[in-house]
Amino acid sequence: MDSVEYHSAKAMLEWQIEMGVDECMLDAPVDRYALEAVQPKAKAQVPAAAAAPVAAPAVVQFDPAVEARAMAGAAQSLEELRAALGAFEHCELKLGARNLVFSDGQPGARLMIVGEAPGRDEDRIGKPFVGRAGQLLDKMLAAIDLGRDREEASVYITNVLPWRPPQNRDPKPDEIAMMLPFLERHIALAKPDVLAIVGNISCQALLGKRGITRLRGNWAEACGLPAMPMFHPAYLLRNPAAKREAWADLLSLKARLSEH
Ligand code: URA
Repeated sequence: MDSVEYHSAKAMLEWQIEMGVDECMLDAPVDRYALEAVQPKAKAQVPAAAAAPVAAPAVVQFDPAVEARAMAGAAQSLEELRAALGAFEHCELKLGARNLVFSDGQPGARLMIVGEAPGRDEDRIGKPFVGRAGQLLDKMLAAIDLGRDREEASVYITNVLPWRPPQNRDPKPDEIAMMLPFLERHIALAKPDVLAIVGNISCQALLGKRGITRLRGNWAEACGLPAMPMFHPAYLLRNPAAKREAWADLLSLKARLSEH
């Protein structure tokens, strides 16, 4: 058999990951019924009368969210939190992602923006909101005199999920629940005054509700902070008519920030 040269094999694999492949299969199917037949036989049965009563072993269900809460809670700084996320091995999204997408902008900024999950560009570069939606987000922020690269008037940006879901599918509820402790700790360590929660997935995670069309424009509370649910910039790219409402929400954010 021809051996595939290392770089060609790597390029082929990367192409398949780009196309959304997230599972490897064997050449031939595995007959799991046949496997059962070769399992070691159960030990000879002891007559019921001779068997001493044995307490059933307690079934301990592993909950990755509990592990996530412990790891996130132990982080005392944003750097430690990033390292904790890097060491967290229970979210399958990590396996298909190129990079951990942690944050961008200025830690300590008064406004923190919480998006949904990295897309292809964010996964490639390792920063949130760097693709088309991110460019629109930057324009929206500039319209109220804010910017992620500004020293004064800066913002801090993250996502509910730090890894790209394959083919940009919606995150599953268990993935959101598992990663939520990290997001909550992220907000606590970044210490913003105000949150902007963009998109339905982020509202689901932080407010426990979906329905961005109803939620947007109404101040809510998340993690003990005032939070404005807003249309996702990707939605605004598809529905430019909704920019009118987005503008109203931006003005509301600006007014809130100038209160203090
Ligand atoms: N959409 C998001 O919600 N976050 C990103 O980082 C990019 C696109």
